[in-house]
Amino acid sequence: MDIIVSGILGRMGRAVCDAAADAPDMRVVCGVDAATGPDQVVATGGADVPVFGSWDAADIAADAIIDFSHYTAVPALLRYAAAKALPAVVCTTGLGENERDAMREAARSVPVFNSANMSLGVSVLKSMARLAVPALESDFNVEIIEAHHHMKKDSPSGTALMLADAMNEICETRKDYVYGRHGTSDEVKLTDLGIHAVRGGSIPGKHTILFAGPGETIEITHTAYTRDIFALGAIKAARYIGGKQHGLYTMDDLV
Ligand SMILES: NC(=O)c1ccc[n+]([C@@H]2O[C@H](COP(=O)([O-])OP(=O)(O)OC[C@H]3O[C@@H](n4cnc5c(N)ncnc54)[C@H](O)[C@@H]3O)[C@@H](O)[C@H]2O)c1
Repeated sequence: MDIIVSGILGRMGRAVCDAAADAPDMRVVCGVDAATGPDQVVATGGADVPVFGSWDAADIAADAIIDFSHYTAVPALLRYAAAKALPAVVCTTGLGENERDAMREAARSVPVFNSANMSLGVSVLKSMARLAVPALESDFNVEIIEAHHHMKKDSPSGTALMLADAMNEICETRKDYVYGRHGTSDEVKLTDLGIHAVRGGSIPGKHTILFAGPGETIEITHTAYTRDIFALGAIKAARYIGGKQHGLYTMDDLV
């Protein structure tokens, strides 16, 4: 598959280039990145590929787009995907309603894959959390603690919100998300779901779900030791949606 990488000059964009170079059936043909300079190229798998500053300039034949950029970049890349009939794997986090509308619109004509976390392990963590919720929700407090490198721009992480939503949608009594507890003096309620963000160093990503009951706790933690797992997940997702009908796909479909 020939891939266009959105956000190619970023940490994840480069990881996707490395992962594609190691995959016999994948080739990056160009990138789009707001930070590009004139005639900038990126070395990927021994070949230099051009980097364009906008989608208008990126008129190169491809089979799919993989995106790890910034939420503001997402609507334009989806318009491009729909116009060129290209499947799109959107891995950027911090998406709002505007970007979700753009995904739904593009999914009317092309396959669109989206997940705030492309790792297999987080997908399993989500399933384990959903397994625990029915037994624990009436007696245990639930808190999510996530940690990421100091350059991460959105907080809490898209993965923390995804885990919270996955649990909340099966709770008999819907929970209220509480972000940090600075300045609050109220007792914590069983209907609260605390979400806490820690930032520092080069941590690729760590998510703990804490179920705290009277006299006992359960903690389940996923730790990402390398960004490669997200890049490999994105490559798998591109392969997966390559032959699919238009529509929205997630890690639940892939796993
Ligand atoms: N889904 C996942 O599994 C997963 C894993 C890791 C990171 N992410 C997300 O991927 C995104 C990128 O992460 P990163 O660590 O590579 O960040 P980064 O800051 O290193 O790279 C982002 C790149 O996108 C470019 N960019 C910014 N705005 C743009 C625009 N409007 N148009 C085109 N390019 C633009 C930047 O110039 C930069 O090169 C973040 O949202 C991050 O949270 C998702």
